[in-house]
Amino acid sequence: MDILRAPIAQELARWPSFRQAGLTAAEIQAQLVRPPKRDMGDVALGCFVFAKAAGVKPNEVAAKLAAGDVPPDNGAPRLIEGATAAGPYVNFKLNRAACMALVLGAIERSCPGENIEDAPQWNFGAGEEGKGKTLVLDFSSPNIAKPLAVHHLRSTMIGYAIKKMRESQGWRVVGINHLGDWGTGFGKLIAGLKKYFPEVGQRALAGDARPLGDMTVQVLIETYQRFNQELKQHEDLEDAGKREFALLERHIEALMADRAHEAGPEGKANFLIWEHARNISLAEFERVYAHLGISFHLWPVVDLHRKRVLTEEPERFFRENALYIGESYYVTAEDLCRRIIADALELKVAEESEGAMVIYTHGKDKPPIILVKNDGATAYHTRDMAAALYRHRHFNSETLVYVVGGEQRLHFQQLFKGLELLGHAWAGQCAHVDFGLLLFKQPDGKWAKASTRAGRVVMLEDLLDEAVEAVRGIIREKNQDLARDAQQAERVAHAVGVGAVVFNDLKSGRRNDIKFDWDEILNFTGETGPYMLMQFVRMGSVTEKFHEAARLKDWGAHAWKQGDCAQLKRDDEWELVLLLANFPEALRRASADYEPSIVAKALIEVAAQTSSWWTNTKDTRIVGEDAELSKARVRLVNAVRKVLGRGLLLLGMTLVERM
Ligand code: ARG
Repeated sequence: MDILRAPIAQELARWPSFRQAGLTAAEIQAQLVRPPKRDMGDVALGCFVFAKAAGVKPNEVAAKLAAGDVPPDNGAPRLIEGATAAGPYVNFKLNRAACMALVLGAIERSCPGENIEDAPQWNFGAGEEGKGKTLVLDFSSPNIAKPLAVHHLRSTMIGYAIKKMRESQGWRVVGINHLGDWGTGFGKLIAGLKKYFPEVGQRALAGDARPLGDMTVQVLIETYQRFNQELKQHEDLEDAGKREFALLERHIEALMADRAHEAGPEGKANFLIWEHARNISLAEFERVYAHLGISFHLWPVVDLHRKRVLTEEPERFFRENALYIGESYYVTAEDLCRRIIADALELKVAEESEGAMVIYTHGKDKPPIILVKNDGATAYHTRDMAAALYRHRHFNSETLVYVVGGEQRLHFQQLFKGLELLGHAWAGQCAHVDFGLLLFKQPDGKWAKASTRAGRVVMLEDLLDEAVEAVRGIIREKNQDLARDAQQAERVAHAVGVGAVVFNDLKSGRRNDIKFDWDEILNFTGETGPYMLMQFVRMGSVTEKFHEAARLKDWGAHAWKQGDCAQLKRDDEWELVLLLANFPEALRRASADYEPSIVAKALIEVAAQTSSWWTNTKDTRIVGEDAELSKARVRLVNAVRKVLGRGLLLLGMTLVERM
């Protein structure tokens, strides 16, 4: 109903009976509903609110409003054909052809071009609500020196979809990857590397920028774990870790103050190790992000060697890239952590506790925020507070949003409260967009948090590779035509495989735990990514089929664009148009609630309705003998294709022409 509601209400506001009742279009629009049964009319108006205001019975109001003739049109075709009162409601019969023309026209105008290259410009459902406002969106945010685990998939995909959906509503969205690249753990990692791989330390001391050679992230995590294991027996290793971290910290501080030479060769060596570990991790992350079609851009200031500041921030840059601003940034480049600590002391918000400096945000029986650890280092919370301050100021944003799993709920409650205690009223507008777990089937048949196939947690990259490989197999088996075009086949395998994983992740409410079931995800029928893409492709093939028929029969290749909606007489066609009309409202709500599943569900409904329409029209076919009917139906097919394409892109999927 959505994009029809406003024009219907406007038309009703011109009816004499509505004018007499003094009802405005906005008031009318707010009371329009879909009747529960189809034979009750196409749209109904509830009269309860009007009756209450006038102090009369709803049934009386309904009878009055429905009385009288439908007024003459004012040039444009009338959308409403008649009204009947039914108890407290007025049921309206719509001029379906006029309504359908309105909806299809809106889709056609906002989605020009027929090729998938045109699709990124399609903007059906665009809104203005966010105009002039900036939202800073923290998403993905993995920790370096650890593999990108499966749970980061959810943050990445939900975050990316939110970015696109908010942008569609006019927001300027600055995406930030809050890389976990700082913390005392890195002291242990460095100590471990030096202990088990002495050549690493030597190379770093000699100034080698790649002291870790060809090490992978897997080696880094194993080194860290081995060191931690050994630490349980040898307490002195704890100090070794602290010492390495202090050296690293001092070097970076000196570097930022342009006095790097004063910090000594050991600090520099640790910095080279840390930096190389970060680069190794980023290269690995980037492979996965490329799979997903997402690009993050290192915030130039983070580049400690060049200290380049990006002064111009063209809007396109923020649309096309999210930024890496790692936790280290707030300790080094901006010195904001110290600022937070100073403020907390001055405002007497912080207190000392066992050698650490803490803020109790939720009473003494809940754990406090740790600002300074007992070894003098900053903590996760300190850096998050600094990051919030930076985001608020630098990007001039009132709305800070964090796409992070539900396990960190307390962390964010404390963060927002802590900011408030420091006098930042805008903290009230921060939001933790949480989500449920990704569950895997275990050998015993139960569903659990992580699959430990071959003793290793499932890595995000493996998962995506596996999905793509499975689709490759399906193409080889089922579509030899496509398989012969190796390049195209690879593109399709990629889009469908990754799309399968993404759609599975986004189709149910984000707070739900998601079951990762290969058979279901890769199913080409049902509520799956492959099925959605398949429907999109089918719509394209029908249009092509029309082109062929049009050539043979001299209809004119693009004649479907003039398709007359009066030809679309079937109820299932009308239902389908109503679903398309609903898309803008679904998108608006999905954006407002940070809930991509609302868009996914709208697409599922469109796809399902399309499929039942096709099944039911087998006798008459979409493209048949009747030129006028074929034109109108292909016009509808085209609108479905655009809405599906638009929606799938908003969810972060890649479109394909063939499958
Ligand atoms: N690095 C953290 C993790 O992997 C997530 C960070 C989320 N963002 C934030 N601003 N705290 O668990």
